[in-house]
Parts: sequence; structure tokens; C-alpha cells
Amino acid sequence: MASTSQGSRKSAYRAELDDAERASRDEIMALQTKRLTWSLKHAYDNVVHYRRAFDKAGVHPSDFRQLSDLAKFPFTVKTDLRDNYPFNMFAVPREKLVRVHASSGTTGKPIVVGYTSADIDVWSDVMARSIRAAGGRTGMIIHNAYGYGLFTGGLGVHYGAERLGCTVVPISGGMTERQVQLINDFRPDIITVTPSYMLAILDEFKRQGLDPRKCSLKVGIFGAEPWTNAMRAEIEQAFDMDATDIYGLSEVMGPGVAQECLETKDGLHIWEDHFYPEVIDPETGKVLPDGEKGELVFTSLTKQGFPVIRYRTRDLTRLLPGTARPGMRRMEKVTGRSDDMIILRGVNVFPTQIEEALLATDWCSGHFLIELTREGRMDEMAVLAEARPERWDGSGLAAQAGELAHHIKSTIGISTRIKIVAPETLERSLGKAKRVYDRRPKG
Ligand code: DLL
Repeated sequence: MASTSQGSRKSAYRAELDDAERASRDEIMALQTKRLTWSLKHAYDNVVHYRRAFDKAGVHPSDFRQLSDLAKFPFTVKTDLRDNYPFNMFAVPREKLVRVHASSGTTGKPIVVGYTSADIDVWSDVMARSIRAAGGRTGMIIHNAYGYGLFTGGLGVHYGAERLGCTVVPISGGMTERQVQLINDFRPDIITVTPSYMLAILDEFKRQGLDPRKCSLKVGIFGAEPWTNAMRAEIEQAFDMDATDIYGLSEVMGPGVAQECLETKDGLHIWEDHFYPEVIDPETGKVLPDGEKGELVFTSLTKQGFPVIRYRTRDLTRLLPGTARPGMRRMEKVTGRSDDMIILRGVNVFPTQIEEALLATDWCSGHFLIELTREGRMDEMAVLAEARPERWDGSGLAAQAGELAHHIKSTIGISTRIKIVAPETLERSLGKAKRVYDRRPKG
């Protein structure tokens, strides 16, 4: 619980770390060098795309001798995966795969990823490690509200939770009333869900006249979409629980690539024994030194079925030195993707900046969306934000809307039209929230 004594908690958790979590930076780097040597060769020998891309760039797996050599190898981007739809990026015969997942892909073909049984094993291990880092322990009950199906969230968390020896409630997303009923009846310790759907669950608690602070949940493992520390504070306060951040993407594995730990909550520990991170300048592709913000790039170190070499995630963050896991670097909370960035009259703005401003008010429930339109030649941004039921005045809180628009103008530097709407009027996401509706004419 948020009120537990920090000191005793820290030492208790340290005793349960596995070998890689205790390893020194030098040990992790030696392991990465060995594993990268294998992974580059595995991709080159078995995937036509990588062979062609390496040949075109004039590099061969044997050119890799130390970690800095990785920069010589070409990037992989989403369109490479799409062009090889559905199965051409696999490095093993299809019969060796025990499962595929696919990204939903709002436009065009989805991205298909595949796992051998050894890959599922590694995934279960890193996911179990993630749940443990968040405070999960053998015997606990996990209410898993990530969607089951082609999305990696549900099954990824499920296998990790089983591996850790937890009792999983595989409820998936949706049926919000039922979610609340099962939380009350089964008394889970942990919930795994997108932060935006957690807010919908919160509304349902209130609708049923239940006090969420009295429910059994101690820890939330929230991810699959960007969310802010303001949202963390909102959820922790509402449920009297700890909210931790989990990161991952289908192309690299699924959930469990990086996880914030309960004892320090200081960014996400990247499980560097399986995933090698780089941060690059998104314009030039140059590798940036640790500490500088840019685009996160991952290379898989142990994946058999679907190796990825220097995959550009589009997620923006920076790498920080290890703390509670000394050999493995941390990544700062991802606050946006380069393709989520809105450029409004020359000013760059991320939806998370709007989220932060909204949650700093005392009237916003956290449900919001952004609408972009064009009036003549001018782009306009409107923010539709829901009021908390207890603050709703039935008309539109005009004074508060004006105040917020002024605050956003003076801090972020953009003019917005704020429309405060009645509780329960914006559509709820059951998984990843869609924040931006771009209604500007195309082309
Ligand atoms: O969202 C995997 C996942 C499931 C992660 C459950 C965590 C929990 P994809 O659907 O492939 O996979 O989407 C990956 O989601 O590139 C980020 O843009 C975003 N994302 C994932 N986790 C976070 C996070 C899953 N903690 C894409 N913070 C990634 C911010 C996140 N963005």
C-alpha cells in the first residue's frame, strides 16, 4: 500500500531478485555481446529481409564484435514488417511456432508476430519478473483486464502471472459492471489493465455506490498506452493503491519488456538480458548518449521465432542508469510517440501534456479527447473533458474552461477550446484509449 514503510519494503524485495537483476553492468554487457552475436547471425541466416538489408548496408554479422558495432546495422521499421505480411519475418519454419499475435493496425494490414515455445518461456519469465517487480508474489490473485486475443496484453500477462504462481482471473476487457463485481467478490491483490480503462472501472465503483479505497487491490500494473504521473496520482489516491508502469510492444515481445519496480518507482527497468535498447535521434538516426531524449530502438537478444534488429518503436524516452537493478538501465516513462505528436501552428504537443493539465484541475475526471479541425487555413484544437460528477453544474463550467485554456496557453503555448462535458458522455475505451480525433481535411 502507498503507506507501507519504504525502508523495510526495499530490503525485503532485494532478497528476491534473480541473477540477471543482481548482475553488474559489466556482466550484463558481456551477456549482451554474446547474445547479440547470436541474434544478428540468426536473423541474417534465416530471414530474407535481414539478409538483404544487411547486404545492402554492407554489413555482416561477423562485423559485430562489441556493443558499439550494433550502430553499423540497419534499422527495421514498421513498413518492413508490413511488407513481409504475414509470415515472412519468421526465422524458423512456421510449424515451429506455437502462437502468433497481431497488432490491431488501424489502417492496412496488421503486423504479425510469432513465438516458438522457447520464446513463450522467455516471455513468461520476463513477465513474471515484471509482476514481481511490481510487488506481485506467489499465491496472489491477479485480475487481468488486458484484452485476450490477438493483442499481446491479455495472454502475455496471463502466462507471466501463472509462471509466478499467482491465481489469474482472465476477465479480459469490457463488461465493466462484472469487473467491479469480481473485484469485490474475488478480492484480487493486483489489477493489470490500461490506465484509461482503470478510470472506467473507477466510475463503475462510484456508480454502484462502492468506496474504491476499501477494495482489495494493492497494486496496479498499467501500460499499453502513454499515461502521466498526474494520472498515477489520481489512480493511487482513488483506490489507495500503488500504480506501476509496464511497457512493451508486440514486435519486441509484448508486455514485459520493461517494468517499474515498487520499491523505487523511478522509471522502468528494461530487461536488458533479453532486449537491447538504444535511443536515437529520430531525424538523423544517430545513436544518442544515455540521458538524452529520442526514439527508442530495440534489438532482441534471445528471440527465435521473430527476431528484431534495431526496431524503431517511435516511442520517445531517454535511457537512465540502473538503480534497484544495477546492471540494467531504466527508461523514463514514455510520454508520447513521434506519430502521436500534434503540431499545432508550429508548436509540438503531446496528448499527455493535455492530460497533465486536465488532471491538475479539481474538476476533471480524467476522461478526455482532443479534436483537431481546420477553420480556413488555421488548425484548431478542441479538448473535450468530462467533469467529475460532484463538480458538474449542468451547464458547462465556463469559468473553469476559460481558466484551463489560459493555463494551457501560458504553459504549453497553444490556444485551445476547452469544452467541459457532463459525466459519462465520452466514449470509454476497453483497452487503449483513442485520444486524438483528427478531423482536418486530408492532403
Ligand atoms: O501494448 C503491449 C503491452 C500490453 C504493454 C500490456 C503493456 C501492457 P502493442 O499493442 O504492440 O503492445 O503496442 C505497443 O504501445 O510502442 C507504445 O507506443 C505503447 N505503450 C505500451 N506500453 C506503454 C507504456 C502493447 N507503459 C505500443 N507507456 C508501444 C506508454 C506504452 N506507452
